[in-house]
Amino acid sequence: MMKTVAFFNNKGGVGKTTLAYHVAWIFADSGLDVLIADFDPQANLTSMFLGEDRLADLWPDGDHSDTVLGALTPILRGIGDVGNPHIEEISDSIGLLVGDLGLSRFEDKLSQEWPRCSDGHEDAFRVLSSFYRMLLMAAEERTVDIVLIDVGPNLGAINRAALLSAQHVVVPLAPDLFSLQGLRNLGPTLREWRGQWEDRKGKAPDDLPLPSGAMDPAGYVVFQHNVRLDRPVHAYAKWTKRIPDEYRRSVLGHKQIRHVDVDSDDHCLAQLKHYRSLMPMAMEARKPMFHLRPADGALGAHASAAQRSGEDFRQLAQMIADKCNINMR
Ligand SMILES: Nc1ncnc2c1ncn2[C@@H]1O[C@H](COP(=O)(O)OP(=O)(O)OP(=O)(O)O)[C@@H](O)[C@H]1O
Ligand SMILES: [Mg+2]
Repeated sequence: MMKTVAFFNNKGGVGKTTLAYHVAWIFADSGLDVLIADFDPQANLTSMFLGEDRLADLWPDGDHSDTVLGALTPILRGIGDVGNPHIEEISDSIGLLVGDLGLSRFEDKLSQEWPRCSDGHEDAFRVLSSFYRMLLMAAEERTVDIVLIDVGPNLGAINRAALLSAQHVVVPLAPDLFSLQGLRNLGPTLREWRGQWEDRKGKAPDDLPLPSGAMDPAGYVVFQHNVRLDRPVHAYAKWTKRIPDEYRRSVLGHKQIRHVDVDSDDHCLAQLKHYRSLMPMAMEARKPMFHLRPADGALGAHASAAQRSGEDFRQLAQMIADKCNINMR
């Protein structure tokens, strides 16, 4: 049975996509078969994997048969069910479900059908479970040990449907006011979606495969990505200190909170630093940072930084694997 893990925070720019991308490579390097799904209409993940030439082929004028939108087109037009998705082979062990800027067109349909599930309409369940069933079809075509899901920064209907198909959710965040506010929306919303799906599922037709809607919080990752040299360190320390309590209160729904520090918090999967010029270099080379070689420009200090990034991401991936019961070979 494949595992599904989503990277999610409704706050934008906190490193969801960067994280999904690098963790996918670590899992693949350690022998797992990875399917990575770009359910964000911004399609940033897709553009990290694929160059412009390939993107131009996948996104022609007119219909896009080989993107996630392509698989959903029969549903969007009301003429059929979700189709077999194209899997873009990134490597022997990474397959990508290609993102599409046009995916935002699915938002309205998903909003309309959500309440109709309460009345047991089969077509509504088909729409709501289309992301999940797309993943199932992909996993039938290709060996898949783990599915990683990237989504956009909002609490909209696309994300609700995409996240319902995730057994686990990893929450990337930054040490700032916006991220803490973000948690206060994210946690209660995930709980609400979980509960509403549970109610609806009971009314579904028996033969339709439906996601569990578990969305179990696996932990958070603190990105020091906005730590600037011109801002005093204590500004970040203040927000960092509040993260564990806010995560427990908002995301886990704990009522009584005993303060712990991030450094000793079980729910903190990693504190990742800003990799500075390594990241643009990786984007340019279309590789994870830890695969950068001297030929890509990773010389001297960059080479050792690239290597250290590999240690950071391996540790993080191992934490995610432990939390989600994934066997890293
Ligand atoms: N650890 C890091 N070191 C350096 N740069 C990073 C790091 N993490 C993310 N970035 C950069 O920060 C920006 C935002 O990251 P990313 O796109 O992963 O965030 P996101 O949460 O997916 O954003 P969105 O909400 O728009 O989907 C990108 O330009 C990315 O290259
Ligand atoms: Mg993103």
